[in-house]
Formats: sequence, C-alpha cells, structure tokens
Amino acid sequence: MSKKITVIGTGYVGLVAAIGFADFGNDVIGVDIDKEKIDNLNKGISPIYEQSIYEYLNRNLKSKRLRFSSDISSSLKDCEVIFIGVGTPPKENGEADLSQVENVVKEICKNLNGYKTIVLKSTVPIGTNRWVKDYIKKETNSDNFDVVSNPEFLREGRAINDFFHPDRVVIGYESEKSKEIIEDIYKSLYLIETPFVWCNYETAELIKYANNAFLATKITFINQIANLSEAIGANVIQVAKAMGMDGRIGPKFLHAGPGYGGSCFPKDTKALVEIGNKYNVNMSLVKEVINLNELQKNKMIHKLKRILPDLSNKCVAILGLAFKAETDDMRESPAISIINKLLENNVTIKVHDPKAISNAKQIFGDKLIYCDNAIEAVNDADALMLVTDWNEYRNLNLNIIAKLMKNKILIDTRNMLDMEKVKEHGFIYEGLGRR
Ligand code: UDX
Repeated sequence: MSKKITVIGTGYVGLVAAIGFADFGNDVIGVDIDKEKIDNLNKGISPIYEQSIYEYLNRNLKSKRLRFSSDISSSLKDCEVIFIGVGTPPKENGEADLSQVENVVKEICKNLNGYKTIVLKSTVPIGTNRWVKDYIKKETNSDNFDVVSNPEFLREGRAINDFFHPDRVVIGYESEKSKEIIEDIYKSLYLIETPFVWCNYETAELIKYANNAFLATKITFINQIANLSEAIGANVIQVAKAMGMDGRIGPKFLHAGPGYGGSCFPKDTKALVEIGNKYNVNMSLVKEVINLNELQKNKMIHKLKRILPDLSNKCVAILGLAFKAETDDMRESPAISIINKLLENNVTIKVHDPKAISNAKQIFGDKLIYCDNAIEAVNDADALMLVTDWNEYRNLNLNIIAKLMKNKILIDTRNMLDMEKVKEHGFIYEGLGRR
C-alpha cells in the first residue's frame, strides 16, 4: 500500500530518494530550508546535474505524487514515514558534523503527532541511530515511533539509476512493525529481487563507512601500483586488467588516477578514522589511504614539473574540473589541488569542463580563464592537463591542438588517451603507470 512519506533534505541523497519513492507510487513531500531551491523544485528545476533527473522529477510532480515544501512542521505531521537525508559534512578534525541531523530530530520531537517510522539515510557515525531513538523517547516521553537506518550507496552522475537498481539495500532496524513498513516502501525493489541486508543499527552504520573506505583503498592501491609500474617499466593498465580478471578482486575501481575526490570518500574515510580513535581501534590502513591520496594529487604537479621545471608565467590548460565525469560537483576534486598548486607557481590557467564551470567560478572567481570548449582552453598553452574523465576528452582533435599549443606537453592524469597516437603528434606525453 502506498505510504505518505516526508523526506528532509533535498541534496543528492534526499532529492533522489524523494523522487524515487514518489516513482514507486508513494505520496512524497521533499523538505528543505532553502526556499529558493524549493520554489525551483516545485517548478521542475533540479538544483543538481544528474542523468534523467529532469524526466523523473517532472513526471512525479505532474502526477501529484511529489511536492516540495519549506514548512517542516506541517510536512512532518502530514506523513507516516520520515526519511532524513540532510548533510553530515566533516568538521575540522574529520569527525562528521551532525548538527543538521540533530536539528531535524528536534523538529520531529516537536511534531510527533502519531506513530512514525523515522529513517536515517544520511551517512552517520556509529551510535547515531541509537542516539536518535533514545533522544526522541526522552524528549517526547513516547514509544510511538521507530527508528531505522538505511544508508545510501548511490553514485553521483548515476544516482537515479542506482536508486532503482541498487546492488543491495541495507536496513538497520529493531521492530517488526518498522520492517514491514520498509518492505512495503521498497516493494518495487523486492519484485526485481534486489538483495536486502537486515541488521542492527551499528552494523548498518558501519557497512556504509566500510564500503566507501574499501573502495577508496582499492583506488589508492592501484594508484600506488601505477607509481611502481612507472618506476619499473610495467604498464598499470594491463596490471589492473589482469588483476580484475581474478574473480576475487573484480575489474571495477582499479583505474589509476589523480586521487579520489567527491562528497563521500574523503569525508567517510576521515570519519572512519575518527570512529576508530573514539573506540581505541587502530585504523592505520585507512589513515594511510587518506595520506596517499593527498600525495597522489601532488604527484600530478610533479609530473608536469619534471618536464617544465620553471612554471612561473607559463600557461596551463586544465580539461576537466568535476571530481569525476557525468557530474558538475567539484567537492574535493583533484582539480582543486592541482589548480591551487599551479596558482602558487604563478601559472596562467585556462579551464574547461562540460558541466562544472559555474561551480568552479564560485571557488576560484577571476583567478582562472574559463573557456567554452577544449580548443579555446589549449590555445597558446604551454601544457595541457587532462584531469576529469569526460568522454568528450577521449576524442580530442590532436592535430588542431598540436598546432595551437605553445609547447606540446600533455599530462593525462586518467590514462584516457592512446600514448602512441599522442606521441605521433609530437607531444611529450605523461600518463600514469606507463612509460
Ligand atoms: C561514492 C560511492 O561509489 C557511492 O557508493 C557512495 O554512496 C558515495 O561515494 P561518488 O562519490 O559519486 O560515489 O563517486 P565514485 O564513482 O565512487 O568515484 C569516487 C572517486 O573515485 C572519483 O573521484 C573517481 O574519479 C575516483 N575513482 C573511481 C578513481 O580514481 N578510480 C576508479 O577506478 C574509480
């Protein structure tokens, strides 16, 4: 049976969940304190760039199964199930900042007008779901609610698809009643035989951190192997391919690059280390992954400096600013570290990205030259750095680029181009993990 659901937070997690649950046939209100965002969403305008989001957003607005509101009180009263999808950004020390979750929980206490299932989708440290349960019970003096942990694993750029086709759904729960309600909401996924992991709160919370830290470790591992491949004359692409053929390892997340970025891996690895500190458990492997990832970003500049030792007053073209392809998100993007290092060296920087230019302007203002296309960016440049793996950069017209650049230096931080072809055009080429 369809449910009345309120989703608090309209960032990546909250917005995609609101749209997805409405598409499953539920009656959904998406809530955010940002009124302008809410007005835009009600008009069918998404605050994020995401494949298929316009289609799904507008389809569900039109069917009236989905609406957005900035009135948290009435939205909380007018539902049976509350999903919390607000941000948990890192504090200075790496710990997750739970203030947004705490504020929502306080609002829930003020507006608890009957039985509710309260589901935490935000990534939260161990103990948070139990804290939410105890806090609401204490504040409201009521047992007429359940708390459920339901961590989100969607990837930016594929968020809508991931919502409808997850590898698994993880549910931390304590009561049979809440289990039945969650089963009902996710009925559409049951029908396509999505595996469900039913567990306690602590297990659900740890699964999310362990998952992200493991993927960050896998990337960092192959980045180290790339560095070693360079030194010994091996080819990391072939090494990764052969490793991936081992069913126990698998081929995904073995692409060497300029270091992982985004809103999750950097934040969640740091939070996991903090959790280890809190419980006095050695998390040195994850700590080292964090350190190595920083070194990997710096390594891209070292590569450039090896070829062009004096960078001052040189012009560098950066192709790709987003932390990965198919998103406009620049949070923790390796491009930010690379650009900052270049700026320290008095480099003129010309940038292009198919989607992230407006976010880049918010970070760098007039410190960069923003270009409409790759060709404009490389014009008169002394070096070209490929930083994000956008497909359109895989087929660059090297003939034209070779003619336009002042010095033909190409640093390919994602191993996107065919090294031999690039060299045929007279470039000095540096990829990763292959000579
Ligand atoms: C990640 C998790 O995949 C997702 O399950 C979780 O919910 C949120 O964090 P996302 O941040 O969208 O998703 O990006 P993802 O595709 O996982 O890539 C993360 C970073 O790793 C990017 O900077 C990407 O470029 C990098 N990466 C990924 C590599 O350098 N090499 C790889 O082989 C894969």
